[in-house]
Amino acid sequence: MSLRILITGATGQVGWQLQRTLAPLGEVIACTRTELDLANPEATAKFVRELAPDLVANAAAYTAVDKAESEPDLAHVVNAVSPGLIAEELACTGGLLVHYSTDYVFDGTKTGPYIENDTTGPLNTYGRTKLEGEQRIAASGCAHIILRTSWVYDIRGKNFLRAVLRLAREREELTMVADQHGSPTWARAIAEATSQIVGRCTLRRDAPGWGYSGTYHLTAAGQTTWAGFAEQILEEYTALAEWPADTGEWGSPLLAKGVIPVTTAQFPTPARRPQNSVLSNAKLQDTFGLRLPDWQALLRLALQDAVR
Ligand SMILES: NC(=O)c1ccc[n+]([C@@H]2O[C@H](COP(=O)([O-])OP(=O)(O)OC[C@H]3O[C@@H](n4cnc5c(N)ncnc54)[C@H](OP(=O)(O)O)[C@@H]3O)[C@@H](O)[C@H]2O)c1
Repeated sequence: MSLRILITGATGQVGWQLQRTLAPLGEVIACTRTELDLANPEATAKFVRELAPDLVANAAAYTAVDKAESEPDLAHVVNAVSPGLIAEELACTGGLLVHYSTDYVFDGTKTGPYIENDTTGPLNTYGRTKLEGEQRIAASGCAHIILRTSWVYDIRGKNFLRAVLRLAREREELTMVADQHGSPTWARAIAEATSQIVGRCTLRRDAPGWGYSGTYHLTAAGQTTWAGFAEQILEEYTALAEWPADTGEWGSPLLAKGVIPVTTAQFPTPARRPQNSVLSNAKLQDTFGLRLPDWQALLRLALQDAVR
């Protein structure tokens, strides 16, 4: 059965890729912030009510982790209030909400990967607002899939991959935090897994909560630190540099030869971040038979997309 699909945050990393991966499932209506602004909760609820989509993939979010410390009200409306209202609209019509959340709902003190039921304890405003978004969605009673992911990057958009390459063109040495652990996850892989999950839910359209309502962790396999991620970016990019140089931004050479590891304490930021962000994906694998490849393999595929 073909779905009417609303994607929010169409210009974002995940929203951009969702437009491609959800297309086989039905009619996609993809909205930018200008077309649907989650900072305006009433207008957001009205938009969803009038469109009456079968599925909302909410990829819009206030994602500026440090800036959120000085704009907590805006982050709260975008990440918690509006997703809650979208969920309430879908609860009335029987629609499904796919929503994205974050490793930053945890405090990072656990030894080993976090599972979905572990106690949350966000250290910053972004994490607190994202957690409240999860809670409002669950309380709404709508069919929902909440996917917690981490360290998202792509070859477009604002992200660590492009920031590292920009700095590496300007400087001989990069300093990166080496005591925060997590799993870098390619936006395309998140969007592809989302499409598979929605396909499975669609087959159980008559079941309560479309069969699989709940929270799932969805990250690339393996783990590293920001310093390790940056090292790998330089290594993979250097391997690509032997390829044809008619690729604009991606063809230009790097000055940086390596990464100097530093501690979080040496690199203070407005928002505190968890030291351990690693999420267990066992529930995702057990429920949907999905497992994302290692983060290094996905990084290579993402970079190949930039030059080929
Ligand atoms: N990025 C990460 O490292 C990360 C990690 C864990 C979880 N997540 C979660 O994954 C999801 C997707 O994140 P992403 O990495 O794709 O984020 P992103 O690249 O920063 O994109 C965010 C999107 O949300 C839009 N947006 C921001 N404020 C909005 C508003 N008031 N109304 C409507 N749209 C608004 C942005 O529009 P503009 O282009 O106009 O700003 C953009 O399209 C989010 O739920 C995020 O919390 C992300």
